[in-house]
Amino acid sequence: MTKSGPGFSTLAVHAGAQPDPATGARATPIYQTTSFVFEDADHAAALFGLEQFGNIYTRIMNPTQAVLEERIAALEGGAAALAVASGHAAQLLAFHTMMGPGDNFVAARQLYGGSVNQFGQAFRSFDWQVRWADSSDPASFEARIDERTKAIFIESLANPGGTFVDIAAIAEIAHRYGLPLVVDNTMATPYLVRPLEHGADIVVHSLTKFIGGHGNSMGGILVDGGTFDWSKSGKYPLLSEPRPEYGGIVLHQAFGNFAFAVAARVLGLRDFGPAISPFNAFLIQTGVETLPLRMQRHCDNALAVATWLKDQEKVSWVRYAGLEDDPNNALQKRYSPKGAGAVFTFGLAGGYEAGKRFVEALEMFSHLANIGDTRSLVIHPASTTHRQLTPEQQVAAGAGPDVIRLSIGIEDVADIIADLEQALAKA
Ligand SMILES: Cc1ncc(COP(=O)(O)O)c(C=O)c1O
Repeated sequence: MTKSGPGFSTLAVHAGAQPDPATGARATPIYQTTSFVFEDADHAAALFGLEQFGNIYTRIMNPTQAVLEERIAALEGGAAALAVASGHAAQLLAFHTMMGPGDNFVAARQLYGGSVNQFGQAFRSFDWQVRWADSSDPASFEARIDERTKAIFIESLANPGGTFVDIAAIAEIAHRYGLPLVVDNTMATPYLVRPLEHGADIVVHSLTKFIGGHGNSMGGILVDGGTFDWSKSGKYPLLSEPRPEYGGIVLHQAFGNFAFAVAARVLGLRDFGPAISPFNAFLIQTGVETLPLRMQRHCDNALAVATWLKDQEKVSWVRYAGLEDDPNNALQKRYSPKGAGAVFTFGLAGGYEAGKRFVEALEMFSHLANIGDTRSLVIHPASTTHRQLTPEQQVAAGAGPDVIRLSIGIEDVADIIADLEQALAKA
């Protein structure tokens, strides 16, 4: 039997890690230090000049963080990665590496509400403009591209709608215009979908969700696919023009297929500062080791719950791409054959008030603003995560007033259904 390399589950456990060279510790230690002693003055100068890789200061790089980066890069099939303090920080640094004042990017409307805010409001202070397109209509992305467009952004599996996107079709449009496709793969994780294999150029994650997986630490990461030509169009000067603070080095020339990750680190993370703590990197990395097991259980439980919910009298609709009759089922089968993820929405016949009673009646489910925990979670997006959006934006994002979002955990599925059943009876 010929084999091309370690499988996904093996990488999830081993990629990037080896016994600690100083102590032999088998688990990656938490290098809880702010800074690292230089060998001598020349060593220090070489590190600061980017002539040599190495640890200087934990805001920029840390050995515990480095293992997490290498592991996620391996799982996504990318060239390199940069781990940061949160998913939002990863998005900020990804765009900072590509955008300048007056530039724009095209993003799917169907995004996590916090990303809609970040792009539509916070990014305006940098004079970066977002143009909204419809994730189910690739042509709508093309229609919004102009000469100041720098990137296209989508979620592989949208939060909270739970819909898969035709990544290859949107990547084809991006590349026809010489643009990178950035994909937020938080909801799917590389266990279900590997966007780089479908033409994406950069992948971003909130590690806070399924990758960390236990609802205990914030983190984010950007993965450099290593295939985009940052020099060809002259549109990405941070990568293609000499950097005065690093002795005139041109990052794309010097670092080749991992130049984007380097630029995000030495220009973005260095100056904006959203570093991940070594402790969080350790916890998230420990979570990654069981990602394949957890994700499959999340998906199996979610399918069973969605199938059950569909037959309940008080439930007016269920949108779960894993259901055979769901309009998104063909895309799910194509992009994510192992399962449709764990987050989906449904509508209660009694609307807003019934939704509130239902959420309050649940006992095992936790009512909170998160997804991707081992525990089952519930929220009413319109009054919480998507509250700051206009009613039109809420509906477009799949977060209208009657919508309940579930993030199905890895408990026994009979117990999950029993909790939903008793709460439905009270709704
Ligand atoms: C799909 C998606 N992307 C990005 C984020 C932002 O991540 P973080 O909360 O880690 O900043 C979230 C958070 O819920 C999310 O669900």
